Amino acid sequence: MADMSIEFSGITLKNPIIVASAEPSNSVENIKQCIDYGAGAVITKTIGDIPGMQQLTKNSKYAILNDQGRIIKGKVPRSFVFYSRSGYISEPASDWISILKETQEYAAANGSAIIANIASGTLQGWIELAQMCEDCGAPMLEVNFQCPHPAGMGEGADGIWIAQDPGVTAKVTRAIVDAVNIPVMVKLTPETNRLAEVAKAAMDAGAASVAVNSRFVGFAVDIETAEPYIDGPAGVGGPWAKYITQRWVNEIYQKVGCHISGSNGIFDWRDAIEFIMSGARSMQVGSVLMLKGIEWLPKVINGMEKFLDDHGYPDIASIHGIASKKALMTAPELFAVDPVYTLIDHDKCKFPKCNICTRMCFYDSLKEGQEYIQTAPDTCIGCELCLNVCPFDAITMTTDKELALRSQEMFAEETSEATIQAVQ
Ligand SMILES: Cc1cc2nc3c(=O)[nH]c(=O)nc-3n(C[C@H](O)[C@H](O)[C@H](O)COP(=O)(O)O)c2cc1C
Repeated sequence: MADMSIEFSGITLKNPIIVASAEPSNSVENIKQCIDYGAGAVITKTIGDIPGMQQLTKNSKYAILNDQGRIIKGKVPRSFVFYSRSGYISEPASDWISILKETQEYAAANGSAIIANIASGTLQGWIELAQMCEDCGAPMLEVNFQCPHPAGMGEGADGIWIAQDPGVTAKVTRAIVDAVNIPVMVKLTPETNRLAEVAKAAMDAGAASVAVNSRFVGFAVDIETAEPYIDGPAGVGGPWAKYITQRWVNEIYQKVGCHISGSNGIFDWRDAIEFIMSGARSMQVGSVLMLKGIEWLPKVINGMEKFLDDHGYPDIASIHGIASKKALMTAPELFAVDPVYTLIDHDKCKFPKCNICTRMCFYDSLKEGQEYIQTAPDTCIGCELCLNVCPFDAITMTTDKELALRSQEMFAEETSEATIQAVQ
């Protein structure tokens, strides 16, 4: 059995799957359930001191949409879109002193950990919340620099605005890091194109890791009523967001090289493996637990373990960042890759019934002949779009341009000979 444990931000997790800060971690009962189902760690829903954000949670709205933008009721598919609005935990932060103590004790007894997620509207508030959580035994903090909603609350320049600015991120991170002795993870927002810069600012200011990242703010419309769902803009996410998140995980892994917790778009173990290979050391799952239940957790964890075993990987660490390390980042490196050319297997090709490759070739390299698709290796740029759109697996690519040219010529000769013989 592969070793699923991983060292993250200075603490050892029994597995890299962390329950994200959201409703599945908003109470003692829910947190204990996450631990019972095997979570490597659980991040509390945000413990904050902004009254509007506490009130907002009591007015939470959740809509599940399908890939056509219609409300789903019942079974949730992998292609779901979760459109929702909620705030921080509803209770005053002080209520969480006992909750943190109780859940941390339970977590420790079960080889898990509670990471306290905090947010404030003032610098002093951040410090006080951080110290409160440390005093309760939390082994680590996650700071919510990314929640979009405080901006609408008129209660301070916090939330999304912190993680949009490297300078503000550095300032608030430094104040928190100086105030506690436990590792601090800074949670980033995707609502900026400066994620790598912000991550670096956080790390330079003493953070132990970054969480990459929270969800986007979206606007979803019900075309039948001509109204936005749940009355207006809201957080939006789902497995479709994974690729965008992984872009940043990869970039931060390469440019900053820090510990990363991947969040935003994980449905099952496949996504979690992708995140690790992109450079994340741990992964956070949120929405899927709200839509499939906390009992979904073991599917993710066990699926990852099976993947490692099936592929002969001894442990989680051995796949960390392996895809990222192979990513060609510079144009000269990309341009140095050997060009490839289209080869058509005319036995498999169904022309003239099908001509999709000619319609999808935008480089004039695939043309309809009398009886067969003709290739023009001289104009082929090797983009592989024809390979991907061919429904009959009739296309392969070759790096051998001579072969591509010869095959086209030989084929042209054979067909003209066959035509001559048929006419004779
Ligand atoms: C309903 C809901 C509530 C959330 N509440 C919080 C929160 O209180 N604090 C926080 O930092 N992130 C919060 N998040 C963001 C999640 O922690 C997570 O980063 C995000 O949902 C992306 O992960 P996912 O694709 O697994 O859902 C919330 C997300 C959702 C969907």
